[in-house]
Amino acid sequence: MIIAVDGPAAAGKGTLARALAAHFGFHFLDTGSLYRMVALAVLSRGEDPRDPESATMAAATLDPKSWNAEALRDEMVGQAASIVAAIPSVRAALLNLQRSFAARKPGAVLDGRDIGTVVCPEAEAKIFVTASPQERARRRTAELAQRGKTIAYEAVLADIHKRDARDRSRSFAPLVPAGDAYVLDTTDLDINAAVAAAIRYVDSRVVKRSA
Ligand code: C5P
Repeated sequence: MIIAVDGPAAAGKGTLARALAAHFGFHFLDTGSLYRMVALAVLSRGEDPRDPESATMAAATLDPKSWNAEALRDEMVGQAASIVAAIPSVRAALLNLQRSFAARKPGAVLDGRDIGTVVCPEAEAKIFVTASPQERARRRTAELAQRGKTIAYEAVLADIHKRDARDRSRSFAPLVPAGDAYVLDTTDLDINAAVAAAIRYVDSRVVKRSA
C-alpha cells in the first residue's frame, strides 16, 4: 500500500507522514530531502542551483546514504531545493528512486509535493496537508528556535511565501492537491488531532480496498 502525503512547506507533512509510517508499520521517505541533497551538492561546489546541467548531474549521481541531515534542514538549502526542483530533468532523475521506494513491502509513506499527482498517482491513500502561511511560519520559527537558530517570524513568513509561489507556479509537477486527495487543514489542529484524522482516512481507504 502507498500513502502519499503532499503539501506546502512547513505544513506538518513530515511529522504526520512519520507518524502514519510508525502506525501502519510502513517505510517512510521524505522526498524533500532528495531535492535538498541535490541543492546542497550544487551549493557546496560553488555552482548555481538555477544551472540545469549542474543540478541534473547532482541528481543523477545522488547517494542518499552519504548526507548530513542537519545541513539539509538549512533555510538556504530549502530555497535552493525549490529552485532545482523546478528543473524537469532533475525531477526525472529522482523519479525511479522514489518509485522503487514506494514499491517496498508491506507499504510506504512518501511525503513531498507531487507524490499523489506524479510520482505515485496510483497511491491508495492521498493526503494533502495544509495550514495557513502564518501558522506554518509560526511553527517553522519555533522549530528553528528549538534547534538554536533565532530567525525573525517575518523573515520565515517571507521565505514561506516565496517557496509556495515557486512550488505552485512551476510548469512541471506543480504543488496542487490530487483530484482524489483528502485535504487536511491543520491550521487549528494539534499534531495528535491531525494524526488521528489522517489514520481515520487511511483506514477508510483500506476498508474500501478490501470491500
Ligand atoms: O519538503 P521540503 O521543504 O524539504 O522540500 C524542499 C523543496 O523541495 C520544496 O520547496 C519543493 O520545491 C521541493 N520538492 C518537490 N517535490 C517533492 C518534494 C520536495 O518539488 N516531492
